[in-house]
Amino acid sequence: MKHQAVEGFSKLSKEGKIEWVVNEYLNGDTSTIEILKQYWNDDADLQKLHDEFSENTVSNFYMPFGLAPNFLINNELYAIPMAVEESSVVAAASKAAKFWQTRGGFKTTILSTTKLGHVHFMYEGDFEKLNTAFENTIKAKLVEETNDITKNMRARNGGILNLELINKTADLANYYQIKGSFETVDSMGANFINSCLEQFAKTLKNEIDADDNFTQEEKDSLQIVMCILSNYTPDCIVRAEVSCPIEQLAEGEVTAEEFVEKFSRAVRIAEIEPYRATTHNKGIMNGVDSVVIATGNDFRAVEACAHTYAAKDGQYSSLTHCEVKDGIFRFWIDLPTALGTIGGLTALHPLVKLALGILGKPNSKELMGFAAVAGLAQNFAALRSLVTTGIQKGHMKMHLMNILNQLEATEEEKQFFVNYFKDKTVTHHTVIDEFCRLRGVTSVEEIKKN
Ligand code: MEV
Repeated sequence: MKHQAVEGFSKLSKEGKIEWVVNEYLNGDTSTIEILKQYWNDDADLQKLHDEFSENTVSNFYMPFGLAPNFLINNELYAIPMAVEESSVVAAASKAAKFWQTRGGFKTTILSTTKLGHVHFMYEGDFEKLNTAFENTIKAKLVEETNDITKNMRARNGGILNLELINKTADLANYYQIKGSFETVDSMGANFINSCLEQFAKTLKNEIDADDNFTQEEKDSLQIVMCILSNYTPDCIVRAEVSCPIEQLAEGEVTAEEFVEKFSRAVRIAEIEPYRATTHNKGIMNGVDSVVIATGNDFRAVEACAHTYAAKDGQYSSLTHCEVKDGIFRFWIDLPTALGTIGGLTALHPLVKLALGILGKPNSKELMGFAAVAGLAQNFAALRSLVTTGIQKGHMKMHLMNILNQLEATEEEKQFFVNYFKDKTVTHHTVIDEFCRLRGVTSVEEIKKN
């Protein structure tokens, strides 16, 4: 069936939107209305709050909100809140936390906190003239004319750090930028930076228009293309690391030397092989994003930034690194990320406030540290499994539990299946077949009927 375009959808009530989607895309199946409504919150005010985070909302989409305890970070113990739908992520983080808790824990260091934004513009004229005007008068005016916007930020020791005129004409004819560097303290800073940039653009245009050194043609040629912050923040960066004498890394039948060799090789492979680096970094982002989402920050921005940074040397590479020096194993991540602990969702979403509370109401630098630690822990746990037992062992147990939960298996039955699959591969159909055999039925439908 061909679908009809809809006019004024945003103006329909929530019920109206649901009715429309059910009739237009769900064959009028009214049972789907119940599914959407099942996720509404009973508290009308809380529901309204969530509805208004976004647009055209018809329901809520739950994400599990979990805790990874026992994280020793800079000599303090933390439980890290993680919002993630993928099984094994919280378990892996918790495992890595426990491992490092007795080996000195995680250390974090803020390397820098500068954020960037650009006015992208075109200009067909003499560059030296533009550069001289920029340095002599325009730069000061850009600061002066954003004084109102920057007032509160300056009171918090933030604001504009630097302004540069960048000549990009070698890459694109007539293309220039004003590159602004900012300190946004505990806010992620997107609104602040974008407001400053839009004012910069107006000031630039006015200043050039009023400057008799420029010809009318040069004045007319100046065109603002866009004003926007950059989500690439290579100078807003945190380091998280763990280290211990290598003999402390022995585990089970694997000697410390063997483990270090295998682990270091796995990191090296991710450093030189983009296919592996992508999966390796995906695992890191399992941890990072979970913290970023739980604390109400923008995980798309964090993702985009991390991957650009991973490719900064011309080839996509690992975000983590390791070394062995003087008998000490050291494993670390440098994670560029712009996070906020004020503004945005942080003051609005009750669970976000709670997550920040669990973390001891961190400032943005501390939150950067938690995100990086979660990423490093995740990567450590993944590599440790990959180079020893293999990843499927842990994953398959979760997979088995998911299937058994769907089948509403009893605790006794779950125990039976954990033993049963100890030396066998878990597949969906073998679990179903064995489950039916155990219950003495021929199909799952038969169980449901009873
Ligand atoms: C799965 O979400 C993440 C891993 O694939 C990461 C990795 O391979 O390092 C296990």
